[in-house]
Amino acid sequence: MLNDQKVSYSGVQPSGNLTIGNYLGAIKNFATYSEQYKCFYCVVDSHAITVRQVPAELRRRTYETLALYMACGLDPEKNTLYVQSHVPMHTELAWILNCYSMFGELSRMTQFKDKSEKHADNINAGLFTYPVLMAADILLYQTDIVPVGIDQKQHVELCRNIATRFNQLFPDTFTIPEPIISKSGMKIMSLAEPTKKMSKSDENTNAVVYILDDKDTIIRKFKRAVTDSDTAVRFAEGKDGINNLMTIYSCFTGKTLPEIEREFDGKGYGDFKMAVGEACADALAPVQEKFRQILADKAYLEEVMKKGADEASYYARKTISKVKRKVGFVI
Ligand code: TYM
Repeated sequence: MLNDQKVSYSGVQPSGNLTIGNYLGAIKNFATYSEQYKCFYCVVDSHAITVRQVPAELRRRTYETLALYMACGLDPEKNTLYVQSHVPMHTELAWILNCYSMFGELSRMTQFKDKSEKHADNINAGLFTYPVLMAADILLYQTDIVPVGIDQKQHVELCRNIATRFNQLFPDTFTIPEPIISKSGMKIMSLAEPTKKMSKSDENTNAVVYILDDKDTIIRKFKRAVTDSDTAVRFAEGKDGINNLMTIYSCFTGKTLPEIEREFDGKGYGDFKMAVGEACADALAPVQEKFRQILADKAYLEEVMKKGADEASYYARKTISKVKRKVGFVI
């Protein structure tokens, strides 16, 4: 809570081309809070370097992610949009919170375990303390709600635990945040392995639909999506591929699962996949057009980044001063 207004906070890593998982699970929902909440949406570049990045690509994607936020309907006049590394209080608070976070609880984070397996040659300390930096992001702004996909729920719960522990030692420091998981788009699966999350870092680009893919590419990817040997379009256990496509179709069209089953009654998977591809491409077309317009104006993007960082710093500074005072630093 800031000045009697509830706060919504979330972030996206500029670590790859953003997917329809990022869109449906997170970004698309951000704008729904813009009127009633004080909203902070961050491009988390400091998190991105926990795995190796090509510097020029990281820089380019930072601009692109900010442009996508705006293309997805986030007005920089109504939301504070900024880049994490522009507000040094994030890393400052992360250090302090590191000293109140336990080795055991960090070791239990499933994302750390997954990423350690995937990047076995680079299990760096940043990867391990990644959720503490995420807790710092959230707690700096006295956040009430954190809209995320279900894969981030464990990190938000850890953040709640760290904040509660800190508040027990130093009362009234942090607001305890609540994760908000959108029911429909909470976990969009890979098109090639529908038991696995669709991820921007997947090497198989056919398994992933990117927000910026053109219509032909989108339709081709959906046509190749892995399904099953059944023929009926119905949501059921064991039909992971079809369940995923139905979820995606439902998110893009607003139709319910029973409505979708009725619509494709007697039709085959081919027709259904085509319809999913069309619905996805049609929904993304205006986002893509707006994205291109915004990205072409680098000066404007830099203005937005600067304004966002100034706004965010104003609130971040208040929290970090309070925290420093509480832990006994001379300020
Ligand atoms: P990141 O960059 O991996 O993903 C950004 C957002 O997209 C959601 N998401 C998905 N939702 C549904 N289906 C999918 N396949 C899918 N893939 C990704 C994620 O849940 C997330 O909401 N640690 C965070 C970034 C972060 C953050 C924060 C988030 C840093 N600080 C503070 C909230 C608050 C991450 O890596 O997200």
